[in-house]
Amino acid sequence: MTYSNILSTSDDGICTITVNRPDKLNALNKDTIAEIGAAVHAAAHDPEVYGIIITGSGPKAFVAGADISEFASYSLEQGMELSAHGHRVFDSIEQCGKPVIAAVNGFALGGGCELAMACHMRVASENAKFGQPEVKLGLIPGYGGTQRLPKLIGKGRAMELLMTADMIDAREAWRMGLVNHVVPAEELMTVTKGILAKIRVQAPVAIAEIVRTVNASDDKQTDGFREEIERFGACFTTDDFKEGTDAFLNKRKADFKGK
Ligand code: COA
Repeated sequence: MTYSNILSTSDDGICTITVNRPDKLNALNKDTIAEIGAAVHAAAHDPEVYGIIITGSGPKAFVAGADISEFASYSLEQGMELSAHGHRVFDSIEQCGKPVIAAVNGFALGGGCELAMACHMRVASENAKFGQPEVKLGLIPGYGGTQRLPKLIGKGRAMELLMTADMIDAREAWRMGLVNHVVPAEELMTVTKGILAKIRVQAPVAIAEIVRTVNASDDKQTDGFREEIERFGACFTTDDFKEGTDAFLNKRKADFKGK
């Protein structure tokens, strides 16, 4: 599939999705969000892909937010539809059964911070900056930021960032728990791929169950503990479980097939 606003390339089992509007600091217009959704969907269903990286083009920005020029004259209905569309795509990232890591290479503001938060993990370069500046525009975050930020950094800190529009650097984001690692810019992709390499040798079915059950802790409709009991039991029916336990008991390396 060809895209206009993103690049999607696969190499050695990793699909790298790069938001590619560097002259607009990779701001997310509707088409870009739709393309990210399509690329994640394609990677999730590609048997050759085991992990996904989302990053931004150029040295300056991961994503500097939703495209302000696009929604400047929106009505209530258009605003709601814009938000609902973003939710659908970002939820699909969060629910993806393969690991999705944000490699944050610069500004991650507004929708950019929300995109990073929808990923399962975040690795930031030392020059990355995070913030939710929507209040400056008379808005609130519309792509899940009011929900995901407090879960990652706690309610009080989230309230402060959301209300003040403060921008924080990568070290501060790490201290708050917003990012997993901070690395020099030139090491960003190597470190991110290194995390995926550690996941690659694990049982793929169990990885998908980790995503499902950890996400269940956020879902008010689901009893996450009950979900864990059921999915833990379901793991016992998989070939991956038989392979993993047999490999351990016979002191050999497991060769998982993802079934
Ligand atoms: N939407 C649309 N365009 C954006 C954008 C956004 N969120 N963020 C940056 N751009 C555009 C700028 O308009 C500019 O375009 P132009 O060259 O055609 O004028 C270009 O990207 C470069 O940005 P610029 O502001 O000149 O870079 P800077 O280094 O001076 O400042 C930022 C960088 C990130 C601090 C600044 O661009 C900014 O505050 N962006 C908006 C952040 C925001 O509020 N995001 C939340 C949106 S809900």
